[in-house]
Amino acid sequence: MCGIVGYVGKEDATPILLHGLEKLEYRGYDSAGIAVRNHGDDPLIVKAEGKLTNLIEKVSGMTFTGTAGLGHSRWSTHGKSNETNAHPHCSDDHNVIGVHNGIIENYQELKDKLLRKKYTFYSETDTEVIIKLIDYYYKKYKIGPVDAINKALVRARGSYALGLMFKDYPDQVWFAKKGSPLIIAKGKDACYLASDVPAILKQTNKVYYVDDYEIGYIKEDEVRFFDLNGDDITNKKELVTIDWKADATDLGKYQYYMEKEIDEQPEAIKRTIDAYVDEEGFIKFPELGITKEYLNSLEEIYIFACGSAYHAGVVAEYLIEDLANVNVRCELASEFKYRNYKMNPRSLAIVISQSGETKDTYEAMMKAKANGIKTLAICNVKGSTITRDADFNCYTYAGPEIAVATTKAYSCQLAVLYLFTLFLARTKYALERDKYYELVNEVKALPEKVKETIKCKRQVQKLSSRFTEKTNVFFIGRGIDYAICMEGSLKLKEITYINSNAYAAGELKHGTISLIQHGVAIIAIATQPDLIEKTVSNMVEVKSRDGSVVALTTKDTEVEDSSKYQIYVPKVNPLFAASLAIIPIQQLAYYVSLNKGLNPDKPRNLAKSVTVE
Ligand code: F6R
Repeated sequence: MCGIVGYVGKEDATPILLHGLEKLEYRGYDSAGIAVRNHGDDPLIVKAEGKLTNLIEKVSGMTFTGTAGLGHSRWSTHGKSNETNAHPHCSDDHNVIGVHNGIIENYQELKDKLLRKKYTFYSETDTEVIIKLIDYYYKKYKIGPVDAINKALVRARGSYALGLMFKDYPDQVWFAKKGSPLIIAKGKDACYLASDVPAILKQTNKVYYVDDYEIGYIKEDEVRFFDLNGDDITNKKELVTIDWKADATDLGKYQYYMEKEIDEQPEAIKRTIDAYVDEEGFIKFPELGITKEYLNSLEEIYIFACGSAYHAGVVAEYLIEDLANVNVRCELASEFKYRNYKMNPRSLAIVISQSGETKDTYEAMMKAKANGIKTLAICNVKGSTITRDADFNCYTYAGPEIAVATTKAYSCQLAVLYLFTLFLARTKYALERDKYYELVNEVKALPEKVKETIKCKRQVQKLSSRFTEKTNVFFIGRGIDYAICMEGSLKLKEITYINSNAYAAGELKHGTISLIQHGVAIIAIATQPDLIEKTVSNMVEVKSRDGSVVALTTKDTEVEDSSKYQIYVPKVNPLFAASLAIIPIQQLAYYVSLNKGLNPDKPRNLAKSVTVE
């Protein structure tokens, strides 16, 4: 939700800021802007409504240079997506200029205070208020940026990652953070700030993670951190090396990241599996730090996540109960926080998140911690907020994911969940040795099978034309197939805007079947041999009401009579079928989006990392 970048160095800031914003555009694309300053000169602020290309076009007609600056890509919270509300925002005399990611909840109260002090406002944003509040304290106490920022932020409720420039400190960019992600990066003769690593990966892979309530500045050759008391805490901060490759966020031969990331799945899944399975086929979680005694004592497991990560959790719910003999509750993080559920003290809470920044997931995790429950984060971004507060971490090695709709990160989450389940099942002696090795080998075979599945691209592309004009699509399945339906349905609706719904196939006759009539499209997922007969019966019920059924199943399963179209994925142990069955649906969603002339990477109203409630 909103991307911020900052730069101080020897080079011209504008192309560096624009490159950073391009890499962060997945965080928001309602409007964008930059502020650039050349030493003591007046700063130049350029903003444009809509996608970043509009800003790039505007800037290309201008001649200015500057070696320090800030940039912002907006996902609107307060006020319309227009140029006035776009960031950077500034005090009237340009004394303080800033960009902000987050929400200042009591902005109206702060605004009223400033109005009484004769400040005026040009935008509807909470950001303009916080910038002007910093300006107010800066001028009132004349004690420099650390104290001015501190005085303003102790009065602000909500979340923020702020990038700031002060007129009196022309060669510095300041920052502050609470609740919204922020990193500082150190390169050669330059320092950067950014919401996320992809923004700086081309320049450097050396970063500091900014913690909540920290303030600081970057200069060409210096980074300083201060705490709330104004004490210099730079010595306590660790410079971390990121292991993502510099070209990992390049599009290469692809037109869109989503197709690239779908195709990268075999490699990403393999990287993730290889991180946890040794040559003898033994699963190890070196960074996990959970003891066998603790795992053996578990009576219940909670899984908290949102969106696709939640859908990966639903797959794990079936798996863990089946193999490890532990009861599991997979809960939507955004709802769990409002429940008065009495958590079992002999339990583990697993949180799943690609970004590690999803606020709802973070809060569900903190609620579990407050109940004395240990937490395990399955996360793709090392150093992210969730990983820093979780008791244990297990990383997915999907690499940076740029398309808003997740594909490779979801697949890697499944891989880690499979391995964790097998690890747990073996630790609890719920799984015989031979069966354990057989299942580990099945997991190790997944990257090749996913690669094979990806080859159905052209068939799916052809089929996609049948969906372009549809307004309603239903996904039906049972057991793990139902979990796949949930993810498939989300994928289709979020990037094609078709109203798609996932139903447990057994639920159809309890109401939804009244919607089935001529032309309605149904995708029936049938990869679970034990449940196939029942799902096929549901397909026949739908077909006899003139619905158009696409069957998605494994090779050699007989579904021709009960469906109009068929998609087959390679044979696989049904426990791991989600990893294959999701691929054609990702591809279908991608091609339908293209057929409709949409940009699959940037669906309307969405942002990749949801750091607000
Ligand atoms: C859908 C999608 C979202 C995310 C959800 C959680 O394609 O990407 O539903 O899965 O917003 O995000 P993370 O995994 O970053 O916590």
